[in-house]
Amino acid sequence: MTYVALAGAGPDFERTFAEATGGAYLSMPGPVAADPDVLLAHVNGAGDPEVLVLDSRADADSALALADRFTAERPGTVVLLASDRSDEVGLRAMRAGVRDIIPTTADATEIRQALQAAVSTANRLSTSVANSQPGEGPGGAKGRVITVISPKGGAGKTTVATNLAVALARTMPHSTVLVDLDLQFGDVATALNLTPDYTLPDALPSAASADTIALKTYLSLHLETGLYVLAAPEHPAAADTISSAQISQLLQLLATEFTYVVVDTSPGLSDHTLAALDQTTDPLLLTALSVPGARGMRKVIDTLSQLQMFSGGHRVVVNFADAGHGMSADDVEATLGVAVGTSLPTSKAAPASLNRGIPLMQSRIRDPLVKALTPLVDSLLPDGITLEGRGKHRGARRGAR
Ligand SMILES: Nc1ncnc2c1ncn2[C@@H]1O[C@H](COP(=O)(O)OP(=O)(O)OP(=O)(O)O)[C@@H](O)[C@H]1O
Ligand SMILES: [Mg+2]
Repeated sequence: MTYVALAGAGPDFERTFAEATGGAYLSMPGPVAADPDVLLAHVNGAGDPEVLVLDSRADADSALALADRFTAERPGTVVLLASDRSDEVGLRAMRAGVRDIIPTTADATEIRQALQAAVSTANRLSTSVANSQPGEGPGGAKGRVITVISPKGGAGKTTVATNLAVALARTMPHSTVLVDLDLQFGDVATALNLTPDYTLPDALPSAASADTIALKTYLSLHLETGLYVLAAPEHPAAADTISSAQISQLLQLLATEFTYVVVDTSPGLSDHTLAALDQTTDPLLLTALSVPGARGMRKVIDTLSQLQMFSGGHRVVVNFADAGHGMSADDVEATLGVAVGTSLPTSKAAPASLNRGIPLMQSRIRDPLVKALTPLVDSLLPDGITLEGRGKHRGARRGAR
């Protein structure tokens, strides 16, 4: 059964809500309980609502705690907040996974529009939840960890990581966190035009104590796309204080909360990158189309093989694939002994987009890099969901490898 539920509503808001829905909703009166089970006990086994609207005026803290638990434990429910203080609660609401804030002064038409948008999001989510692998995704087991590595600097790791993350976040709300593991010189925050309040070292104690709620408060929200970001430390020296074990704990915990954890790295195979690779389900080996790039990648593959960390799951991505000056992707394959899965062309717009802090996948412009990245994004999305919202063919998944 799918239904809309309204919890903790004051009489004024409930009157307008009833008008907006023609009475087609379940009302959960009284104070909002911070526990989903307690709340749902009101509805006599009707199951999880498709859309839950929480009037937060009486107790914003409980409403946000409840929203956070619904997002983590019941990913099929879209939570909206009714509030008269959206300026104050906005950021916390976003962090708790609230999809939209309805002003308590909204008229019936505005409420209906917000509910329609929420229902269509819920439909999309229910498809993705149904298509998730068992034990995958938020609320328990394991999301996918996608780590972008390259032997050399400037190959395009940050460009690929930010664009992939933005595309996944746009397609599946609240699904994706981007971790900047270029701990000395990371520039993911700049690439997304974010000024983070907290950075990666702040989050490590919560990761060590497996406190997911606290951990989430250290993430920055990229409001334009719904992507969560854990930015690199402000000062390069902080990298020395971070251990590989801490990186493992962090990524493990994030993977229990997010369907996708995208990791940007520094050039080469640092201990931090190796720790990330140990937790990685989808390693992307990126190289520019050049002899030094391909040779460096050969050494990366040899090293990972010696450490028994190389598998068929690795995807080789060649960037600047049209600028080989006589070298081709075939030459890279011959050097690596591994097939090139994705070739990314040079994009005139890419450098400016990095400088402006607006990834190409965010501005949705027509661009050869966006076009080439799209099958890679689709191959990471659940079956039936695509970046552009069309039906996906299995062939597209294979084509991106
Ligand atoms: N396909 C592309 N077309 C055009 N420019 C690109 C492309 N990919 C990356 N660039 C540009 O190349 C430069 C380096 O890219 P980026 O910062 O993503 O590389 P990186 O591997 O993260 O570098 P570093 O190792 O220094 O972190 C940037 O100016 C970026 O805009
Ligand atoms: Mg980089």
